[in-house]
Amino acid sequence: MFSTDASTLENQVAQVEPSSASKSSSASVVCRPRRLRRTETLRRMVREHTLRVEDLIYPLFVMVGEGQQEEVASMPGCYRYTLDLLLNEVQQAYQLGIGAIALFPLIPCDQKDNAGTESYNPDGLIPGAVRAIKQAVPDILVITDVALDPYSSEGHDGIVQDGKILNDETVAVLAKQALVQAEAGADFVAPSDMMDGRVGVIRKALDAEGWINVGILAYSAKYASAYYGPFRDALDSAPKFGDKKTYQMDAANAREAIKEVDLDIAEGADIVMVKPALAYLDIICQIKQHTNLPVAAYNVSGEYAMIKAAAAQGWIDEKKVILETLTSMKRAGADLILTYFAKDVALMLRR
Ligand code: PBG
Repeated sequence: MFSTDASTLENQVAQVEPSSASKSSSASVVCRPRRLRRTETLRRMVREHTLRVEDLIYPLFVMVGEGQQEEVASMPGCYRYTLDLLLNEVQQAYQLGIGAIALFPLIPCDQKDNAGTESYNPDGLIPGAVRAIKQAVPDILVITDVALDPYSSEGHDGIVQDGKILNDETVAVLAKQALVQAEAGADFVAPSDMMDGRVGVIRKALDAEGWINVGILAYSAKYASAYYGPFRDALDSAPKFGDKKTYQMDAANAREAIKEVDLDIAEGADIVMVKPALAYLDIICQIKQHTNLPVAAYNVSGEYAMIKAAAAQGWIDEKKVILETLTSMKRAGADLILTYFAKDVALMLRR
């Protein structure tokens, strides 16, 4: 081991470059990391991590109807689109170089029930949207969310009985939902509910029906987080009672994230995800060191809202903060980033 004690360092440098001190007017400074920061070209050459448009996945909200888009109040710049307008948005994203979108539905109240029955309606909003997108922009990857909350009259990710969230009964419904999405043409299904065993059951169901090439992007380490508030506004999907702490993870736990990731990998996940991202960069880092699978991070709605709100006040430089924030996720180890800023970033990355 080298010692990093300053005097030893000085000796080492002196041995390697005996003449350097004599050419410097301030001989006491021996190490000059600033040399590598001198110009932008040089900084670019030695940059360790780079945010690329290929890293981005664009989450989008779809609603029933025609010719409408509604801005989400707590997510300025984000809209719920009817399918016709959603297709324009997807086309634009693709033209900007974004390779994948993640779809989330706003389900009308009268279609919600405790069992999330609408979630596996083959003619439902999401299957219809997937078919239309695959027809309009065949090359863009479509990722569908597998969870009951947008379809649940209780606003929970699972079937509720006596105030408790049932696990295995819910997983059976998730498998049906995933199958309907695969049949519609989804490239990846993304279970985001944190029920135990769902990845394995979904993988088996897909394989049994021949959908061997439909991938699973597993929300492996998904925390019970207050950062999801604006998303629940967007989909009108907030829990009607209690919270999600009996299924989503406790914010204080890190080892448990590794356990969840191991289970999802064993059950057949193709990509693992950490969510939220910003307050969980340490988890992204640990998971990246733990697995060879691609690691995704979800820059969630609350993270988006905080930047938008501060920028609207003129308190921060929005573009710079977006780039710095997403770069921190790459540096932590994320290969892929789900972000509502995807289009903005794609534009910023164009040189
Ligand atoms: C639900 C789901 C949530 C998000 C994605 N899928 C919310 C929740 O778990 O309550 C949140 C995304 C965001 O906040 O941007 N299965």
